[in-house]
Order: sequence, then structure tokens, then C-alpha cells
Amino acid sequence: MPPAPRIAPSILAADFARLGDQVREVVAAGASVIHVDIMDGHFVPPLSMGPQVVSALRDLDLGVELDVHLMVERPERHVADFARAGAHNITVHAEATPHVHYAVQQIREHGCTAGVAVCPSTPLDVYRELEVDLALCMTVNPGWGGQVYIPASDDKVRRLRALLGDGPQLEVDGGIDAETAGPAAAAGATLFVAGSALFGAPDPAEAYRRIAAAAGV
Ligand code: DX5
Ligand code: ZN
Repeated sequence: MPPAPRIAPSILAADFARLGDQVREVVAAGASVIHVDIMDGHFVPPLSMGPQVVSALRDLDLGVELDVHLMVERPERHVADFARAGAHNITVHAEATPHVHYAVQQIREHGCTAGVAVCPSTPLDVYRELEVDLALCMTVNPGWGGQVYIPASDDKVRRLRALLGDGPQLEVDGGIDAETAGPAAAAGATLFVAGSALFGAPDPAEAYRRIAAAAGV
């Protein structure tokens, strides 16, 4: 049996002036995992946030998992900082380091579950060489919220689930909303990152419920 489906609200699209309230709102709607996007201005052009935001979320003490997505070069250099800040899962990009296996080892040694992400143009071969707790299939090009889901992602997710077997989480990230979540779920995704479709909606709790229903949560 694959893991039970869950929605991971991405705070990248939240109002940072009231971050705590926004996170409480989606947690009250049912979220048990929060997705945190870290961008370094190199692997992807924008800068976003650092471990201080992860520890601030931990200090809210809401009993949720913190899912940290490192869109940074040489992510293995930052694993300890994010683990100390309270990350539960840390995901590194296969394209961001020649030492993906080492990065996965480091993540586990620091007590977190380990994810490996691939961009839309990256082949899935890395998952044949590694055992991951979570595979993140980017369904847009990383770096920005609010992009359109790449339709070919459904087929890629299907191939990735076949390759992974049932065990690991299969996370989809980018353009997930009440329309795209269903086909991604049918293809084998189990963790659905949603940023602008949630925090950009007039009522994030209502948006959460719609996306959750579409994903079969
Ligand atoms: C993009 C990030 C995403 C982003 C998704 O590079 O990895 O997690 O927050 O945003 P939406 O849901 O708006 O596409
Ligand atoms: Zn992300």
C-alpha cells in the first residue's frame, strides 16, 4: 500500500506578515504537513528563506511535519542547519550536487527522512541508484509559485511510481489545484504541494478542502 495521500501547503504563497495565522488556518482545515521552499539565488534565480523560518514554524508547536524543499546548490552543506531548525523531511535536488547519495546519508544521520527531487527535464534514473523516503517530481520548473502544471507530469508520475514501488512518498510540486490533483493522484502521487491555489484563494480552508477531495485525502 502506498502512503495515505496528504496535502502539503506551501508557505511560499502565504502572507509572510501573518505567517503563523495562515499556517494555523490550513492546519485547522486538516493539513498535517507544511512545505517550506528554500531558494538560494543560484540553483534557482530567486532567494526565498532560510532555517529561521523553519524554526519559527516549529515554535508554533502545531504538531505538523515540516517538509523542507532545498532548491540550493550543494545542499549537503545545509542539511545540519535545517535539521536543527526542526525539519522532519529534507529534500535535495538530484541536479544540485554530484553527491546525492551522500546528501541522503547526511539527512538520515541528522534524524530526518530523505527526499530527492527532479526537475521536469531530468530523467528518473537517479531513483534506480538510491533508496529514498520521498521522491519529489517537479510538475513545474522550480523557482516560482503560481505556474501552470506541466501536463506531461502525469505520465512521469506514473513511471516514477512504477519505479519506486509502493513504499516511498511521491510528492508533486507546482501548479497543484482542484483540477490537477486528481490526475496526479490517479498516476500515483501521494503528497500534493499547493501554494497559490491555497494561500492565493479568498478562503484557504475551503480551497484546502477542495484540493484534498480531488486528491482523495
Ligand atoms: C516552486 C516551489 C513550489 C511552489 C508551488 O519552485 O517548489 O513549492 O510553492 O507553488 P504553486 O502551488 O503556486 O505552483
Ligand atoms: Zn517546493
